[in-house]
Amino acid sequence: MQRLYRKRIVLGVGGGIAAYKSAELVRRLRTYGAEVRVIMTQGGREFITPLTLQALSGHPVHLDLLDPAAEAAMGHIELARWADLVLIAPATADLMARLSQGVANDLLTTVVLATDAPVALAPAMNQAMWRDPATLANTELLKSRGFRLFGPASGSQACGDVGMGRMLEPDDLAQLAADCFARQSLTGQHMLITAGPTQENIDPVRYITNHSSGKMGFALAEAAVEAGARVTLVTGPVHLPTPDRVSRVDVVSARDMLAACEAAMPCDVLIAAAAVADYRPEVIAPHKLKKDPSSGDGLLLQMVRNPDILATLARRSDRPFSVGFAAETEHLLDYASRKLMDKNLDLIVANDVANPAIGFNSEDNAVSVIDRDLQETRFAQTSKGKIARQLIDFIANRLKQAQTHA
Ligand code: C5P
Repeated sequence: MQRLYRKRIVLGVGGGIAAYKSAELVRRLRTYGAEVRVIMTQGGREFITPLTLQALSGHPVHLDLLDPAAEAAMGHIELARWADLVLIAPATADLMARLSQGVANDLLTTVVLATDAPVALAPAMNQAMWRDPATLANTELLKSRGFRLFGPASGSQACGDVGMGRMLEPDDLAQLAADCFARQSLTGQHMLITAGPTQENIDPVRYITNHSSGKMGFALAEAAVEAGARVTLVTGPVHLPTPDRVSRVDVVSARDMLAACEAAMPCDVLIAAAAVADYRPEVIAPHKLKKDPSSGDGLLLQMVRNPDILATLARRSDRPFSVGFAAETEHLLDYASRKLMDKNLDLIVANDVANPAIGFNSEDNAVSVIDRDLQETRFAQTSKGKIARQLIDFIANRLKQAQTHA
């Protein structure tokens, strides 16, 4: 149950008699250290009062999508982002039907649609409703889309029937919620992640940089924390909030980034997602450069190579499991494989930055991961948050294999 410690659970309470058990479920989840925010549907409120769940969760219950006060406090998108897990208990036949169709006509269904977090459903309904072909088809569709089903159980029902459709008991639900974090595959591991661009100064007012937004590196840091890692995020200048529970070090130039990474060593895993400038001006002019009439219309800037942060750390004797990124505009897999070998990496994540939908500064990504056997694993286009989770799972698996064979 320690898997629930500090986990953030949005508990959706639908309109079924089993809603009375949700009160106990909130208590259990909190006992195990989870933070719980409750969303109630209109139906849920007919069975149990928001005040009960507010008192037990320690936070106001979220009720309406269109409530300006509630939206100002923690809006539906914030709630969706906040969640490590969305657990809907009870999940009624109606809720499941709406979710299966992607309907977003109240706060709970909207949060489900907006979240990147896993969503688990604890169905609770009359046995005939559970057996109905429509419910069965909706359940199959939900499962195929990655929703997790907790139960239902079989037994006597509030309506007097006996059969499948009883909601699982709060203890069982808390256990299953904890199991959702079984991919705490990185517990105890220190992960060092580089992100963003670097800035290489020319003079006190000018610099050379690139279009990296840092989104992928930040999404990886968040996913790694969720997977239980202790994360140090060394980032160039970006406009992104620090993901919770991540220790962030801000740097400007490539040399600063290398120094910050060296200071953060040792680590078990290094993911170099930063777009580091390969060259920097040989000298940083102490004063603002002036237009020089004697050099005509041109300006020659002498550049020198920056250190390769990833290659430097991947060659140390306390070398971490090393993962690089290859952002390329052509010959993606060729160039990526070469970098994997040249930089002595375990894995390289190749992405095609020529495609604006998945390139620098975009919301989405689609990548291929190449290993030392030059085997390629593809991850289809989706949000950077989802890709990050998939990548972290993949890396955690490979790390485990590497550690058991070491
Ligand atoms: O050689 P290239 O810049 O394409 O390699 C990309 C990979 O190497 C990325 O993982 C990037 O973060 C890392 N890198 C680095 N230091 C550099 C250049 C690249 O860590 N100076």
